[in-house]
Amino acid sequence: MAKDNISPLVRRSVAQGRGPNCYNFAPPTNTYYQLIASLVPEDARKGLDVGCFLGDFSSHLVQRGLLAEVDCVDLSPAAIEHARKRHRDPRLRFSVGDAETYQPQGDYDVVLLMGILERFTLERVVAIMRNIHAHTRYVLVTFTEQCMRHFSVAEFHHECRTLFRLKKQVTYTICEREAFEAGLRPQTNHHTFVLLGRIE
Ligand SMILES: C[S@@+](CC[C@H](N)C(=O)[O-])C[C@H]1O[C@@H](n2cnc3c(N)ncnc32)[C@H](O)[C@@H]1O
Repeated sequence: MAKDNISPLVRRSVAQGRGPNCYNFAPPTNTYYQLIASLVPEDARKGLDVGCFLGDFSSHLVQRGLLAEVDCVDLSPAAIEHARKRHRDPRLRFSVGDAETYQPQGDYDVVLLMGILERFTLERVVAIMRNIHAHTRYVLVTFTEQCMRHFSVAEFHHECRTLFRLKKQVTYTICEREAFEAGLRPQTNHHTFVLLGRIE
């Protein structure tokens, strides 16, 4: 059986049919999601969402016409099972997979690695980035800086600079009121969005 090591918080969110953490407030309309969506390259058509959770963001992208189709992968079988029921959309294909061993079946315009790399050591992050390098033109990475234990965003750039060129970086801070309304502890929470373009 595939391993399912999602946190109790995320597990509770799945049970309630919500996104994890701060993402459980109206994903299509909140400024966090809008900001990330604005970074998806205009000419991108096919995406791979690694660590998709319930697939809400990818669903949002195809519904807005920002991507035509997305392969969505998550380590959690529970999340994928829930995502399949939640999004009965042929443009979204869900499967259980581990970012560290996943072998992309084809080429993508953009790979989303959102809120997933924080948990790995930098060495393992570089291995993941090397693995997807040949399969995509762009990688869109989001970090929640408070969750980063092993490395900084600057170290990430430094290590990945021979594979991907930094195109854009945006930092978003959830303000206390917004975090409070989202059911989070009322404290600031910094997210960094990084769009990387592949070096041929
Ligand atoms: C914080 S959530 C982010 C969800 C979504 N990407 C977003 O930004 O809204 C992290 C997700 O990564 C998944 N995950 C954790 N480790 C993973 C791994 N090794 N491979 C694939 N998915 C993983 C978790 O199950 C969880 O759904």
